[in-house]
Amino acid sequence: MHLSVEDQGRGAPVVFVHSFPLDRRMWAAQRDAVVAAGYRALALDLPGFGESPLPPDAAPTLDLYADAVRACLDARQLERAAVVGLSLGGYVALRLAATHPDRIAALALADTRAAADAPEVRAGRVLNMSLVRKRGSGALVEKMLPMLLAPDADPAVRDAVRAWGGAQRPEGIEHALVAMRDRGDATSALDAIGVRTAVIVGARDGITPPHEMRAMAGRIAGATYTEVDGAGHLSNLERPAAFNDALLRWLAG
Ligand code: MLT
Repeated sequence: MHLSVEDQGRGAPVVFVHSFPLDRRMWAAQRDAVVAAGYRALALDLPGFGESPLPPDAAPTLDLYADAVRACLDARQLERAAVVGLSLGGYVALRLAATHPDRIAALALADTRAAADAPEVRAGRVLNMSLVRKRGSGALVEKMLPMLLAPDADPAVRDAVRAWGGAQRPEGIEHALVAMRDRGDATSALDAIGVRTAVIVGARDGITPPHEMRAMAGRIAGATYTEVDGAGHLSNLERPAAFNDALLRWLAG
């Protein structure tokens, strides 16, 4: 599989898995922070997003994305890495934790959930597919923005999310919508996580709210739980300094 991966720094590897419908550019502030702290940062574009093509015969499942994370490690002869996933990236990290726990040295789950989609969310995915087909990626991002960011989010962050999301290819977005809609419940996988885990959530996240993330942390042995004050769903973009503090504390163990 051809993957576009930004690979910077030396030291213990940290893989960043982006949210929907964005790409690896969302991790710039975290990449800089972990590289400055002496780690190697690998940020990949999931298949169909950013500069990673969608393989023509790819089935629309989370496994395609989890396989991409493994391929990113394989290509660099890395057996394991710390894995950071936000929202869709968290679904992917949890899938990898369930299928290939040996590849994960430590896990950071941000603004995500283990439960499958509720019926109304599944129905919303279908509407969003038709919106993207009819009016393009930009229309979907515009619809999602009020849920992705806190109302008073920095306008520059809002503009970046608009630009990144609006630039995604409709087929990549549709693929992810199907993969997210049809993903199974990963709640039982939480009990089996045996690596150091950080759970991080924006205090104003309306998509994966703090009470759910706190419950998730409660099911993972030894997990730390951090709420990022003032941030909505895209907590790493909205409050990078607080997010990075949590990330570096987790990496340092
Ligand atoms: C994301 O930020 O990745 C999405 O909100 C995930 C989702 O739609 O379930």
